[in-house]
Amino acid sequence: MKFFIDTADVNEIREAASWGLVDGVTTNPSLIAKTGRPYAEVLREICDIVDGPISAEVVATEAAAMLEEGEKLAKIHRNIVVKCPLIIEGLKATRAFAKRGIRVNVTLIFTPLQALAAAKCGASYLSPFIGRLDDIGQDGFQIVEQMIQILSNYDYPAEVLVASVRNLTHLMRAAEIGADVATVPFAVLKQILHHPLTDMGLERFLADWRKTNQKI
Ligand code: E4P
Repeated sequence: MKFFIDTADVNEIREAASWGLVDGVTTNPSLIAKTGRPYAEVLREICDIVDGPISAEVVATEAAAMLEEGEKLAKIHRNIVVKCPLIIEGLKATRAFAKRGIRVNVTLIFTPLQALAAAKCGASYLSPFIGRLDDIGQDGFQIVEQMIQILSNYDYPAEVLVASVRNLTHLMRAAEIGADVATVPFAVLKQILHHPLTDMGLERFLADWRKTNQKI
């Protein structure tokens, strides 16, 4: 499973990339707003740090305007993947982008049939928001499982990108069901690497080693 980092904070991206864990990046308007910086500038910086798909979201809600915005975003770097919301206009834009060879990440997916529709329109990535489904008392992963099952019946090239990941359990389940990608906030990515028994074990090994008075 590929790990994307779900942030527009370049310091977080730089640090996580240095661990070798970042295959790509997803941003959204809320994450960009948090940085307080110009979108294009942030995207350029991200593209310099990570050599992988970088999702940049349009904010227009009509296909023609989405195409204009997406074209601008795609020109920033060859790794930019335009993110369109799953609305009718977003799917029209997705089809048009796909024809122009511009990859699209269809975002805000909450049902398997929405995912199928986006795949049919030529999306490269399908982003189900599992955390937000959990928030309203639904099982986000049941929906992802159904999506994967449905897509396995056909030959669409779209990859399932599990989004709105809030914790390690989400990440585990994404890997267990064979999602292609999970996009993960920095804090959760960091948690993957930590376990108290790892820290205690290392401390004990090093204490015992010191007693030997040897050097390697
Ligand atoms: C995905 O591309 C989105 O940016 C993201 O995963 C949304 O997560 P949230 O529901 O925690 O805001």
